[in-house]
Amino acid sequence: MKNDFILKLCLLFLLILSCGKKPDRPYNLVVPQGFSTPSIPHDNPLTEKKVKLGELLFFDPIISDDSTISCSSCHIPERAFTDGRKMPVGMRGNVGKRNSPSLVNVAYYPYFFAEGKVFDLETQALAPGLHAEEMGTEMKKMIYRLRSNPFYSKKFKEVFSEEVDVKHFVYVLACYERTLISANSRYDQLKLSKEETTGKDLFFSEKTNCSQCHNGNLFTDFSFQNIGLYEVYDDPGLARVNSMANDSGRFKTPSLRNIEFTAPYMHDGSMATLEEVVDFYNSGGKNHPNKSEWVKPLGLTDAEKKSLVSFLKCLTDEDLKNKKGIFATPNLIYH
Ligand code: HEC
Ligand code: HEC
Repeated sequence: MKNDFILKLCLLFLLILSCGKKPDRPYNLVVPQGFSTPSIPHDNPLTEKKVKLGELLFFDPIISDDSTISCSSCHIPERAFTDGRKMPVGMRGNVGKRNSPSLVNVAYYPYFFAEGKVFDLETQALAPGLHAEEMGTEMKKMIYRLRSNPFYSKKFKEVFSEEVDVKHFVYVLACYERTLISANSRYDQLKLSKEETTGKDLFFSEKTNCSQCHNGNLFTDFSFQNIGLYEVYDDPGLARVNSMANDSGRFKTPSLRNIEFTAPYMHDGSMATLEEVVDFYNSGGKNHPNKSEWVKPLGLTDAEKKSLVSFLKCLTDEDLKNKKGIFATPNLIYH
């Protein structure tokens, strides 16, 4: 009897102890049917606390120099993590040089940015801080700020058992970004109307060649292509990093998932609608020595063009329309 009582007392004591320090658990990443598990660096496994902390930071303007801009200023969940602008607007109204891309399914990207110069999300998360037009924050200053913030200082210590530093900062952001996986579109559910099916057949046909570059689960093969957007490009694309004339005007082929919500289109946001994009491909594009042989005049009828657009709109995740899951801006109260 007495022993029993002592045992219960011990258990109670242990329970109180463990309540104060909840252990971090592996994050249960839900992978859509037909998708592989994304590769995750073994020094930065997904855990519940890291993902949550990354999410808090992603939406928090504390990380920009004047506390006006967060990652979510340019990557808005309800717009499939784009910003609806031709060019992004960062701190003090600074205008960026490229259209903000979607972050949905970035866990599967083999590299980042339009010219693919960065190979993991941890390194990528360093970039916005370095560009004045985005957050304009010196990393050192920002880490100091996080250390002096009682809430973040405590949270980071809880996760890493050390004071927050640059590594911890990029690790949690990368963890959050890897959870932005989504594939609940009508295309995935195989629920297409007759017109949409016609569009799908056209998309995958040799008549349009769309799927030569936009293929696989994410509708991209991640190849760098010049699609003849211009005769002379202001932004050299891939050639910006390697100065090869052959690579001028080549950009990463973008995923087409949720394309309905990511207007305006192309690296410079120069096309406002999907109708405009389809008209462009139908025209065969401008002459450029690097233009892909797959882009040429298609001779589509108005009905064919319409069906192609209606198919592209089937790639929208239904959760996005309902502002559910990863597509809902969390209602965060922190500081
Ligand atoms: C002022 C707008 C702006 C802010 C703020 C911003 N981004 Fe971006 N982001 C962009 C633009 C523009 C690009 C594309 C740049 C390029 O391709 O050269 C981009 C690219 C990316 C990419 C690569 C996507 C791809 O397709 O390769 C990731 C990941 C990303 N941002 C995450 C973040 C995170 C995390 C933050 C916060 C720390 C952030 N961004 C803050 C505008 C912004
Ligand atoms: C040769 C490869 C290739 C082919 C063929 C191709 N695309 Fe693209 N597509 C790209 C590249 C590369 C871009 C980005 C170009 C840029 O940003 O300058 C792009 C951009 C787009 C965009 C805008 C994406 C965004 O986020 O801004 C849409 C929509 C699109 N393509 C649909 C199509 C359709 C529909 C077809 C067939 C009629 C097609 N593509 C054929 C490579 C290709």
